[in-house]
Amino acid sequence: MDSTIDLRGRDFLAERDFTAPELNYLIDLASTLKRERQRGAERQRLAGRGIALIFEKTSTRTRIAFEAAIAHQGGFSTILDSTSSQIGHKESIADTARVLSRVYDGIEFRGSEHAIVEALAEYAEVPVFNGLTDTWHPTQMLADFLTMREHSTTSPTTKQLSYAYVGDARHNMGNSLLVTGAILGADVRIIAPKSLWPRQEIQDLARERARDSGAQITITEEISEGVAGVNFVHTDVWVSMGEPKEVWAERIDQLLPYRIDTTVMQAAGPQAKFMHCLPAFHDTNTGVGRMLAEDFGLKEGAEVSSEVFDSPASIVFDEAENRLHTIKAVLVATMADKV
Ligand code: CP
Ligand code: NVA
Repeated sequence: MDSTIDLRGRDFLAERDFTAPELNYLIDLASTLKRERQRGAERQRLAGRGIALIFEKTSTRTRIAFEAAIAHQGGFSTILDSTSSQIGHKESIADTARVLSRVYDGIEFRGSEHAIVEALAEYAEVPVFNGLTDTWHPTQMLADFLTMREHSTTSPTTKQLSYAYVGDARHNMGNSLLVTGAILGADVRIIAPKSLWPRQEIQDLARERARDSGAQITITEEISEGVAGVNFVHTDVWVSMGEPKEVWAERIDQLLPYRIDTTVMQAAGPQAKFMHCLPAFHDTNTGVGRMLAEDFGLKEGAEVSSEVFDSPASIVFDEAENRLHTIKAVLVATMADKV
């Protein structure tokens, strides 16, 4: 871990705000904290510290990771959502930020527009953490890179990782996997129909960062060529939170050729592992899964087949667990007096 790096007091809003050494520092710290906990030797660095957790959108992993991380470190948390608090309808983001800063030592926000978390950070006097916006999912990236590092047989640095993201690449997961890999110097392949590629300004940002880091960036519509040889194949839901359910029909037309099944995994190669930030639609055991079967004949879910999801190549639950260790690293690095 690079001891010259000091992130105390910093917001964690988007990957583009951080250098490669800073992101690697957080991943290294997460790995240290994970080992410490596994040994039963966790030190509490956030005793008495509090965090306010604002969830405008639903969550399982991000919420439990923030709550458990702060509790493991001796702190406490309060959940606020738009139905049971004044946020949004009766109190502005600016006023909310100033109130929460008087009571808490950090604020997490999950919602739609990225501008809202930026406004929160502008007015807050404590670090603000992005728990997902429509544009970026930065805490997920730390978990994904820790997981990829752990599952790399050659124990590479983040610079040596190769991965493909297949699916709707205009949203948080596609953008974040593109830009984080570009900053960290990875071999990044974004595979989607052109209409679902990241916005031009995000592609430009990734190519600019890749010039500094030596990352290889490929954005293509060709799935078999695109995934060939990568160590990790990522996907995400085809319709994200906040999108109307009417978009499913068009999205299925666009993305059915990009579904991750055994043929795609074989095209990637026997070394390839499957990753997904979750939740995933891979069967009919959810309301959405049943709707996909009844309305569109997708009896095995959408973006990934159960065969791949439940295969030995799937590392999705390791990835989910790492949300805890990496979010803990962000809290410790930014809110503790001493790491
Ligand atoms: N991956 C992720 O962010 O999961 P949740 O939506 O459950 O928090
Ligand atoms: N793209 C998904 C990610 C969920 C963690 C969404 O925004 O719903």
